[in-house]
Amino acid sequence: MEQTHQSAPMPRLRVLYPEERIQAEVARLGREISAAYLGKELLVVVVLKGALFFAADLLRALRVPVEMDFVKLSSYQGTQSTGNVLLKKDLECDVAGRDVLVVEDIVDTGLTLSFLKDLLLQRGAKSLAVCTLVDKRQHRRVDITPEFTGISCADGFLVGYGLDLDERMRELTAIYEVLPENTPGGVE
Ligand code: IMP
Repeated sequence: MEQTHQSAPMPRLRVLYPEERIQAEVARLGREISAAYLGKELLVVVVLKGALFFAADLLRALRVPVEMDFVKLSSYQGTQSTGNVLLKKDLECDVAGRDVLVVEDIVDTGLTLSFLKDLLLQRGAKSLAVCTLVDKRQHRRVDITPEFTGISCADGFLVGYGLDLDERMRELTAIYEVLPENTPGGVE
């Protein structure tokens, strides 16, 4: 077939969290969140695009009624955070008086989450908590700790299960670490 666009070469990857580990954490988080919100109705704010796959699995593991809405924020270019958070797509629903749970794929510097938390509190959320699949604490620039965390990890740039490198590799079912170019081994 004729090539219609030039794609960047695939980076070297190493499996960090296989699908089974991710699904075990999703099930545990589902139980914890359901217990914490027993008798309440949650408004789940999914942070696009990365949290899409995680949210789809997590919401089906919850045993409380939920409404779901989406927000899109941006601060990254390639593997670096620019530090400036932009609201690229706003919510459609009103958060005032609601129990809100933000679902994130990964927290790194914390700047994205801090921006979003301020916004939701300004808009009158009755309660606000954050669930992240991955908490990457090493580069934290604001003091923020998600109430619900799947996996804590030290460092590295991760792809798969929604996480991307310049919009690629979100569809991988496990989470991989992108290896520096001169690292031996890894999956090509
Ligand atoms: P923060 O504002 O630095 O906490 O970054 C949060 C956002 O950056 C996440 O929602 C991701 O979109 C992106 N991000 C941070 N670390 C990674 C990573 O290792 N892989 C893919 N995306 C990441």
